[in-house]
Amino acid sequence: MPNDILIKKKIKPFVNKIFVTSDKSLSIRCVLLASVAIGTSKIENLLESEDVLNALRAVKKLGIKYKKKKKNYIIYGSGLNGLVTNSSLVIDAGNSGTLARLILGLLAKTKSRIKIIGDKSLSKRDFSRVVNPLKNFGINIRSKNGFLPVKTYGGEFLRPIYYEENIGSAQCKSAILLAALNTAGITKIKAKKSRNHTELLMKSLKIPIKIKSTKKFDLIELRGLNEFEGFDYKVPGDISSSAFFIVLTLLANNSRITIKDININKSRTGIIKILNMMNAKISYLNKKIYKGEQIADIFVESNNKLKSINCPESLNSSAIDEFLVIFLVASKAKGISQFRNLGELNKKESPRLEIAIKLLRMIGIKVERKNNNLKIHGKPDLNLKGKFVVKDYFKDHRVFMMSCVAALVFGGEWKIYDKKSINTSFPNFIKILRKLGAKIN
Ligand code: S3P
Repeated sequence: MPNDILIKKKIKPFVNKIFVTSDKSLSIRCVLLASVAIGTSKIENLLESEDVLNALRAVKKLGIKYKKKKKNYIIYGSGLNGLVTNSSLVIDAGNSGTLARLILGLLAKTKSRIKIIGDKSLSKRDFSRVVNPLKNFGINIRSKNGFLPVKTYGGEFLRPIYYEENIGSAQCKSAILLAALNTAGITKIKAKKSRNHTELLMKSLKIPIKIKSTKKFDLIELRGLNEFEGFDYKVPGDISSSAFFIVLTLLANNSRITIKDININKSRTGIIKILNMMNAKISYLNKKIYKGEQIADIFVESNNKLKSINCPESLNSSAIDEFLVIFLVASKAKGISQFRNLGELNKKESPRLEIAIKLLRMIGIKVERKNNNLKIHGKPDLNLKGKFVVKDYFKDHRVFMMSCVAALVFGGEWKIYDKKSINTSFPNFIKILRKLGAKIN
């Protein structure tokens, strides 16, 4: 199977209803929490992508049994301190920062050495941001200059910590919350706003967690050493996967789409707020609440009257995985869009800020950069001719998918490498594009 694709034609107008893959953040959290619950959990619609399969492989190595029964994964939890860690284990987190960082929290009390490794991209990412606060619990944990491999030897007498999370990283916050589960006493966190799925899931499991929200921070307290029971969970669709179809529809001609059953948790909907500020008129239908999470269908129509944005920095965290496609919208909007303090983008699966600037310039968009601030000069009549190649971008799934969207709405002839990268988060991405009429060779 070739690992590159060719797109030579813009997508024709479409009207359709689609389902995208299930939420990756929630899927990984469900696997991890189910494995330390007491008894059986039933997870419906678990995302079957590499990152989540790696989470299942990881807990299996730790003695957790699971099976797939029709649409459900049945996971047999072993209780808070029931993970089997009696021999030196190596856990391969693959491409997943979420798995690698969260599992370090879950393993706070391991009795033997566990080594976490990952692929080339994950091996370039910073782990000191979780290793340092975990050390404060009394956990014996070491990294190689802040990078993988990370070795943890756990800690016998853990003490609760006060932790200030100032990046806006849900992975850091969640690693600490999972370690706190295993720690007697109350762990306190002051966390800059970021996705709050771990807190909501813990709340729905009746784990003693208290959350006080202020405008910029969440103040969280978790009392540790409380066992909780296995649970049922139906994972909703992923807004980060929807983002590619939201932008595809917005920038295509005369098209409309309904994306069904998406998690529209406020800590994730930065993209909707940003695009609506740019005149997109995206709406929600059939809103409901499920175990503390908000779910809805997302309705989007094409729009050729998009305007630039002066993007409030307060939306950065809730749109952190969506900026690549937001930049495509800015490229087509009238005026100069401004984005500030996007340094975290360079800490993702690839240096996304650098790559975005390169790709936008490749298609003739003027981009000014000062530190981690961008000005994107939109071209409402952007219509590409000629050939474009997207290659060597660290096999980043979101760069691949963003490039497909650019090719289908801006025109030109595109050769895009590393198709397999979509297995990380969205294995049926190309299948859905084809269902909408995209011609992809
Ligand atoms: C995630 C948090 C974010 C996000 C990632 C998933 C999570 O990372 O970019 O794709 O599931 O907690 P950071 O915590 O590093 O911001």
